[in-house]
Amino acid sequence: MAAPLASNPLVSDFASSVNHIPSTYVRPISDRPKLSQVETSSDTIPLIDLRDLHGPNRVEIIRQIAYACSTYGFFQIKNHGVPESTVDKMLAVAREFFHQPESERMKYYSADSTKTTRVSTSFNVSADKILNWRDYLRLHCFPVKDFIDEWPENPVSFKEITAEYATSVRALVLRLLEAISESLGLERDHISNRLGTHAQHMAFNYYPPCPEPELTYGLPGHKDPTAITVLLQDQVSGLQVFKDDKWVAVYPIPNTFTVNIGDQVQVISNEKYKSVLHRAVVNTDKERLSIPTFYFPSTDAVIGPAQELINGQASPAVYKSFPFVEYWDKFWDRSLATASCLDAFKASTT
Ligand code: OGA
Ligand code: NI
Repeated sequence: MAAPLASNPLVSDFASSVNHIPSTYVRPISDRPKLSQVETSSDTIPLIDLRDLHGPNRVEIIRQIAYACSTYGFFQIKNHGVPESTVDKMLAVAREFFHQPESERMKYYSADSTKTTRVSTSFNVSADKILNWRDYLRLHCFPVKDFIDEWPENPVSFKEITAEYATSVRALVLRLLEAISESLGLERDHISNRLGTHAQHMAFNYYPPCPEPELTYGLPGHKDPTAITVLLQDQVSGLQVFKDDKWVAVYPIPNTFTVNIGDQVQVISNEKYKSVLHRAVVNTDKERLSIPTFYFPSTDAVIGPAQELINGQASPAVYKSFPFVEYWDKFWDRSLATASCLDAFKASTT
C-alpha cells in the first residue's frame, strides 16, 4: 500500500494508486457512513423557485423559505439569478485547478487556518485524528479586491472567473438574507445589519474517487459556522443531510444551489431556524467537486438573538451576545465535530 508522502499530504496525489485507503483515513466501525441505510428518495429537500421573489408572489416564496428553514435547515433554489455561464465556468476552472500538477497545487499548501488563500486537505490537519478524503482550496472573496492578488495564478482565467462568480453569488446571498429576515418576521435588513461589514469565503472541495467509500468520509457530519452557505455541486452526488434520525441524500439538480442555515443564523433567529448536520461521502468511480460559498459576519461583529424574537418566559434568549471572533477561534481550534461549538455561547438559565 502506498502511503501519502510526508511532503505532500494531498489525497489527489495518491488516491488512484491504492486499492485500500491508508489506515489514517479509516473510521472506527461505530463512525462509518453506512451507505445502505441512507434515505435516497429524491424529493426530500424543498426546491424553491426564486423567480417570483421580487414580484407579487413574494409572500408565498417567503412562506416557502420559512417552512424550509424551520423544518430542514436546508433548501435548494432555482432561478437564483447567477448566470448559468458563470456557474459553468466556475466548475470548469475549479476542476482544471485540481487537475494541475502537484507542484502547482502545492504552491498554495498551508495547514494554517488563518491564511486567507490556501490549499489543504481533510478538514483541519492540525486537529483531525482521522483524515478525510478531500483536498480543498479555500479563499476569502469579499471585498474581491482585497484578496484577488493572492488567489492562484493558474489556470490563468481562475482569478477572473472566481471574481465574477463570487460577486454574483454575493448579490444572491444578500437577497436571501433579506428573505430569511422577512421570513422570521424581522426587518428585511436585520440579518445583514448584524453581520458588521460582512465576510465571504469560498471553498473548492475536491473529492477523488475512493477505493473504500464505506470506511471514510469526504467530510464527516458537521454544522456550518456561517450565517448561511450557498453550495454549488457538480453532477456527482455525495451531500447528505441529517433529518429525523436519518441521513438523507441531496441529489444535484442542474442550475440549482443548495442553501443551508449556519450557526450564526441559528443564534440570530433564537433557534427558530437551526443549523443542521450534514456530511459528504465519497464513491469508488467518480471524482466530485463542490463549491460552497460561506457567508459570515466580519470579525468585529457581535452576534446575538434578535430582540424581536425574545419574549419573556415563552421565548427566552437561547444565546447571549458574543463577539463573532470568539466563535471563529473556537471553530478552528478543533476538528470537525457533530457537536456544535455554539454550546459555549448559551444564555445562562439561572
Ligand atoms: C462544507 C460542506 C458539502 C459538500 O464544505 O462545509 O458541507 O457536498 N460541503 O461538499
Ligand atoms: Ni458544510
